[in-house]
Amino acid sequence: MKILFYDTKNYDSSSFDAILPNFADKSADGKPITIEYIKSDLDPRTAALAEGFDAVCAFVSSDVGADTLQILHDKKVGLVLMRCAGFNNVDIEKATELGIRVMRVPGYSPEAVAEHAMALALACNRRLYKAYNKVRENDFSLSGLMGVNFYQKTAGIISTGKIGAAMCRICHGFGMRVIAYDIYPNESLKEFVEYVSLEELLAQSDLISIHCPLMDSTYHMINIDTIKQMKDGVVLVNTSRGALIKTDDLVEGIRMHKFGGVGLDVYEEETNNVFEDRSDEILEHSTTSRLLSFPNVMITSHQGFFTQEALEAIAETSLQNALDYQTGKESPNDVM
Ligand code: NAI
Repeated sequence: MKILFYDTKNYDSSSFDAILPNFADKSADGKPITIEYIKSDLDPRTAALAEGFDAVCAFVSSDVGADTLQILHDKKVGLVLMRCAGFNNVDIEKATELGIRVMRVPGYSPEAVAEHAMALALACNRRLYKAYNKVRENDFSLSGLMGVNFYQKTAGIISTGKIGAAMCRICHGFGMRVIAYDIYPNESLKEFVEYVSLEELLAQSDLISIHCPLMDSTYHMINIDTIKQMKDGVVLVNTSRGALIKTDDLVEGIRMHKFGGVGLDVYEEETNNVFEDRSDEILEHSTTSRLLSFPNVMITSHQGFFTQEALEAIAETSLQNALDYQTGKESPNDVM
């Protein structure tokens, strides 16, 4: 079975190549899985490159819309392996119509993202980015570096799915009181997590960490009205999706001195690695750049998932998905 792997980064080929030999003797038709890696991303211009391949492997930035799928179908590609959880960039209706199977990796390492959320919270609260730069400049003074203890403070976790639950456990380990809001409370957390309304969470939390999916009902859930309900000095962290926060309102809230710190791994403008292009024009007009001008804001570039363990899990599940396709097995990782 031949897979064409789009938008390859070095860490992708390393993690897939490391695990590929484990799948060598499991193939159904005696033909081992082989992977060809290319740097181009999947879109209607590059889909034809998949001629002669059984499957393509794509990512969050790929364009797996109707045009791409039609070309893949014409080239006799039967499987799209999404090496991520999200599939909002896949035209599922079209894939179903064409009989192309789409599979994904629903959860790879919730702890990777939750640990990054706590890293952002700590870095903002203790101004680690500022401390790092000051000491490098030989300035060992403590001015501007004072934070607060998290111990015995209240952590408010918005959504307690896989990642939010991991964040609850981390905050509990820090000796924090943990409260949470979710439309479906997680029974396994009830020993140390108190479920409250969103309004109560906003009003009581010293640290707020957002872990809910982006949907119509959660779009811009953090806006000037919800920001005003928060405690002064709150540390706000978002590792989920940028558009959960209305950026202009966040800027207004920061100007109102509402926040002790803001840590973001995701931001509204983040599509197709806009910042990898880094044109001056993009940076000049971007709201993300406005956010970066504040001393209590720290932004990372969607790296929450980016640990060795998560990459291994993504490779393992994607190749298992390929095998399940080959053997015609149903899978919970099927997108339709
Ligand atoms: P999950 O599916 O396990 O949990 C989602 C939770 O959100 C569920 O408990 C659900 O009940 C809750 N929920 C749904 N609608 C809600 C609403 N209207 N209000 C409140 N809660 C609601 O998802 P998981 O794996 O925990 O991922 C959460 C999010 O993290 C993903 O949607 C994704 O946006 C983000 N993510 C970020 C990564 C990064 O690298 N920064 C990597 C992976 C995911």
